Amino acid sequence: MDFLYKKVLKPVLFLVDPEVIHDLFVKFGELLGKCKVARFVMNRVYGYSDLSDISKVVDGIKYRTPVMLAAGFDYNGRLSRILPSLGFGGEEIGSVTAHPCEGNPKPRLTRLPKSQSIIVNKGLKNEGVEALIVRLKHENAKRLKQGAYARDFVMGISIARTNAQCSSDIETGIDDYAYSFRRLNEEGIGDYYTINISCPNAFGGEAFTSPDLLTKLLIRLSGVMTAVKCTKPVYVKMPINLPWEKFDELLKVIDFYKLAGVVIGNLNKDYGSLGIRAEAPDEYAGGLSGLPCRALSTDLIVRTRKAYGRRFTIIGVGGIMSVADAREKFDAGADLVQLISGMIFEGPGLIREICEGV
Ligand SMILES: Cc1cc2nc3c(=O)[nH]c(=O)nc-3n(C[C@H](O)[C@H](O)[C@H](O)COP(=O)(O)O)c2cc1C
Repeated sequence: MDFLYKKVLKPVLFLVDPEVIHDLFVKFGELLGKCKVARFVMNRVYGYSDLSDISKVVDGIKYRTPVMLAAGFDYNGRLSRILPSLGFGGEEIGSVTAHPCEGNPKPRLTRLPKSQSIIVNKGLKNEGVEALIVRLKHENAKRLKQGAYARDFVMGISIARTNAQCSSDIETGIDDYAYSFRRLNEEGIGDYYTINISCPNAFGGEAFTSPDLLTKLLIRLSGVMTAVKCTKPVYVKMPINLPWEKFDELLKVIDFYKLAGVVIGNLNKDYGSLGIRAEAPDEYAGGLSGLPCRALSTDLIVRTRKAYGRRFTIIGVGGIMSVADAREKFDAGADLVQLISGMIFEGPGLIREICEGV
């Protein structure tokens, strides 16, 4: 199937606009998820069914496999019924925002095949937290009837602030995060939450990657956690282009407010690190996924583990294109791994390969 994907399907898919293909795959995946036979077939072809138990308990949550779909692929929460059949132990849905959001003007995605990367300029396109809550309530009820392999599927929810002028100043930005966080907790939706402070090319920039403003944000979210009695793990999605000293300042804030861990990390915003620069268009905006993220994220994982021991749960993301890359993240100190680009460039068989390989 991997051979078919890489040699037949991918060359055709890569001729079409990436966002069109993305939307098509999400629709197709949603459809497959509703059909028992399709789920069974996908599970036989792509699912992890090895006899050895590779499940992992992280912050009290059981993951059937330690491989997750990273935030941004299933941003409206439509795929939780099919993903367990592809070997995923969980997914991070979102990033979701308080208000529905159209995203940045197109093109929002550009493939760079030689660099094994995608320029992502989605600008947090999503239907908003209220629509997500309604959908996930319905989807969860259905998924729980699918069988044990689907029951142990973990749904993290990534929360960002709405990418619009109305949420671009600091106070309304914090209100925006707090609203989504409170509503998801009130409705009991999500097994864990990730606060995404590192989305490129959104209104107001990455304001909360400064220690002072992150402190302000976490004071507010800690208040919400107390008010709603949140006992679920909360993580922060970290930028990967900061020097260690600046990165560490953020970790100190996250430590102080007793959050459970960090997702390391988000897209690479340094286009200078692109392997094949000529491949990129003259004018482009957004962050780079895939291979250009790999070394930066692994290095920050190593440093975080070394400096903080087991204090933080670390979810390792960025440039996992092979079993060896996943192993590199685990060896660096990651408890779990997440990916998107590897699945797009190598095919969905990669998830099972990683499960079997690590
Ligand atoms: C199409 C696309 C959309 C993304 N959207 C989000 C998002 O909404 N929130 C977020 O935290 N990360 C987002 N990301 C970043 C990914 O979660 C991940 O951190 C990054 O792509 C590196 O992983 P990869 O190399 O496996 O793709 C997005 C990535 C891609 C490719």
